[in-house]
Amino acid sequence: MNGKVIVITGGSSGMGAAMAKDFVAKGAKVAIFDLDEAKGQKLVEEVGGNLAYYKVNVTLKDEIREAVADVEHKFGPLTTLVNSAGVSKMVPFLKSSEELWDLTLDVNLKGTFLTCQVAIERMLEHGGGEIVNMSSLSGKKPSSWQTVYCASKFGVQGLTKSIAKEFADQNIRVNSICPGIVYTEMWEKLKYEYAKKRNIDPEKVMDHFKETIPMHRLVDMKDVLNAAEFLISDKSSYLTGQSINLVGGEWMD
Ligand SMILES: NC(=O)c1ccc[n+]([C@@H]2O[C@H](COP(=O)([O-])OP(=O)(O)OC[C@H]3O[C@@H](n4cnc5c(N)ncnc54)[C@H](O)[C@@H]3O)[C@@H](O)[C@H]2O)c1
Repeated sequence: MNGKVIVITGGSSGMGAAMAKDFVAKGAKVAIFDLDEAKGQKLVEEVGGNLAYYKVNVTLKDEIREAVADVEHKFGPLTTLVNSAGVSKMVPFLKSSEELWDLTLDVNLKGTFLTCQVAIERMLEHGGGEIVNMSSLSGKKPSSWQTVYCASKFGVQGLTKSIAKEFADQNIRVNSICPGIVYTEMWEKLKYEYAKKRNIDPEKVMDHFKETIPMHRLVDMKDVLNAAEFLISDKSSYLTGQSINLVGGEWMD
């Protein structure tokens, strides 16, 4: 990954943080854009000078633009964007508030739209780049109690594919990853909501998933890192507008 300058949104936690560490270890310069300053700064202390933290709200274009300009000043031309910022809540449809709709669609979908716009403007200036959007199995498979989240992640699919088509002949590739269950901070909270939905013990939720997934295991962080690395490397040079289902056989479209 030598020579890559990568922005990872949501990079203070979960998959974003794991990608940030891994990409720096492999030679990239990485900037994380996240609201969680404490976790972001801690990661920078751990990883060192090729990682930078920016307090950016992905729903605000000016903040994104300002931070990207600073990243390019510090590390060089932006080559790669990974959108991993996201929020998720499990609530019955009739109890899903407008506030939840606005927050979820703002962070998961509008945030992806805005960061892609800012990144592509820069990538066009210096000859291309690649974008990976974290969608979800919920971007393909409907799920009760997750209507709002599914709407945002189905949206990420349409956004990714349409941008991919528009910039396919300008050396910008845009793909997505659709993971099933990755046990991150997100699931630390979600397992209580899922337990309510199924009326099971929260501590049994992950075992429940393992039973239902054809491979009988959750997504390993290594699976996410492998997929992300593949999509931002030349090994996937003829892929754009595609999504990788990291679901252990649970969904095949
Ligand atoms: N964990 C899973 O099982 C799973 C499965 C499929 C898809 N996903 C998606 O993958 C992505 C990463 O998930 P994760 O499990 O690592 O999540 P996480 O909760 O561990 O991390 C998400 C990060 O996004 C940041 N964030 C939230 N709102 C923001 C905003 N407005 N601006 C900037 N940063 C913001 C949070 O501070 C947090 O650091 C998300 O988009 C999620 O929806 C997760």
